[in-house]
Amino acid sequence: MAQRTFSIVKPDAVRNGHTGAILAEIDKAGFQIVAIRRQTISKEQAQGFYYVHRERGFFDDLTTFMSSGPLVLMVLEKENAIADLRTLMGATNPANAEEGTIRKKYAASIQENAIHGSDGEETAAFEIGYWFAGYELL
Ligand code: CMP
Repeated sequence: MAQRTFSIVKPDAVRNGHTGAILAEIDKAGFQIVAIRRQTISKEQAQGFYYVHRERGFFDDLTTFMSSGPLVLMVLEKENAIADLRTLMGATNPANAEEGTIRKKYAASIQENAIHGSDGEETAAFEIGYWFAGYELL
């Protein structure tokens, strides 16, 4: 059964001109783009999105980075979307990412790592609802 996940092309990848290449990889891997929006988010919006990481040492840097320039918010759909997107992205730290993955190709560091993907069903539901209204997801 088709499953939905949430993804972000992060500000580093947008800034470096990789948006089109990353969208092409997502398309080639068989995902449907259900919703997509390019925008610059505020630090407060980033803090709300990454609320689960609020106690982590990297929280302030991460939310500053995520609000530093335009990014691309997306809802993606395919069978096994959550796990398949994480495989396509590669490890959080690009130094540990497999050859051929998006982070291996386009990410510079553990923080500026080009792409985000939901890590589970509950997270996907929260993240989709955080950025998109129901009428945008028909
Ligand atoms: P993401 O998949 O968006 O989820 C949380 C983000 O926090 C992660 O990608 C990285 O951008 C960032 N992150 C995770 N671990 C670290 C870390 N150890 N140091 C800095 N940033 C991190």
